[in-house]
Amino acid sequence: MSKLIEFRDVVKKFNGVPVLNGVTFSVEKGEVLCIVGPSGTGKSVTLKHLVRLLTPTSGSVVVDGVDVATCSDDELVKLRDRIGYLFQGGALLAWMTVAENVALPLEECTKLPDREIAVRVRHALRAVELVDAADKYPTEISGGMQKRAGLARAVVRESDIVLYDEPTSGLDPVTSITINRLIKKLNKELGITSIVVTHDLQGALAIADRILLLKGGKAVECSTPAEFTQSQNPDVREFLAAMKGETI
Ligand SMILES: Nc1ncnc2c1ncn2[C@@H]1O[C@H](COP(=O)(O)OP(=O)(O)OP(=O)(O)O)[C@@H](O)[C@H]1O
Ligand SMILES: [Mg+2]
Repeated sequence: MSKLIEFRDVVKKFNGVPVLNGVTFSVEKGEVLCIVGPSGTGKSVTLKHLVRLLTPTSGSVVVDGVDVATCSDDELVKLRDRIGYLFQGGALLAWMTVAENVALPLEECTKLPDREIAVRVRHALRAVELVDAADKYPTEISGGMQKRAGLARAVVRESDIVLYDEPTSGLDPVTSITINRLIKKLNKELGITSIVVTHDLQGALAIADRILLLKGGKAVECSTPAEFTQSQNPDVREFLAAMKGETI
């Protein structure tokens, strides 16, 4: 196993106030890492560093040996090409069909011919079992189907890294399970290294190779689901107790 993604002592301050305060963790190639933690702890901020939507105040973020914050524009384009991103609340464009929405990253970031784009879109839609909805508009399909379309859009560039920011938020438990299974399937079948930010602890336990708890600007624990649930770390215990309380 090799480290594909590394956060090294990352500090990120906004107006002098630290949100990330020395975050260190790594993700192995082919791994699913789930990031959990209270609202406002910097989970989305963490993901944004991976595509240089944000840069660290200090420390470094390294993807496949490339320092994301300081690499050349050419290297950044190559990196971004490798990284699919399902943004938090990542909405589909209402005036485009599902297939057109999924094609967007290819049309914006590649010079592929239309026929090749159509093939890739169909492939991505098949992966999320949405071929039949290709010509529907977002308002004509359910919330769960919209999320699946978002997943297809995140993986259509055949990226080897995909970042999912709360892919199951707002979905019922059964649909959440479907989405989580899809993420795991894409990881297994396409070998996609995945970082999944989620409030869905059960989902994280089901799909993660490791779970990272972000709290107080630090990565306070990063361990396998089995280790995580047995952890004696007081922050993890508190988090697990809070999640349990939520589900009662
Ligand atoms: N561009 C920005 N400028 C200033 N502050 C920001 C910016 N982006 C994020 N923040 C702040 O950083 C903190 C962490 O935000 P972030 O969106 O990462 O939280 P989160 O852990 O993803 O929360 P949630 O679970 O609610 O999505 C928040 O206090 C937020 O207001
Ligand atoms: Mg967030």
